[in-house]
Amino acid sequence: MYVCNCNGLREHCVRQAIAAGAETPQQIYAHHGCQAQCGQCQPDMLAMLRQAEGGTFWPTATPTPALASA
Ligand code: FES
Repeated sequence: MYVCNCNGLREHCVRQAIAAGAETPQQIYAHHGCQAQCGQCQPDMLAMLRQAEGGTFWPTATPTPALASA
């Protein structure tokens, strides 16, 4: 699956850059010798970076107080 259509970066390309130490979308582009074009891929890249840091891939909704205390 393509993450960045402008630069032809697939999911494994982004993960490869993250594994090599990329911490920002700009560093992911640089790892592959390209740069941001439209920038629409940056939210997905940020989500993948967050996931690599041990967070969740998708933003989670804030639990309602009733569910949070259950
Ligand atoms: S989709 Fe990545 S820069 Fe456009």
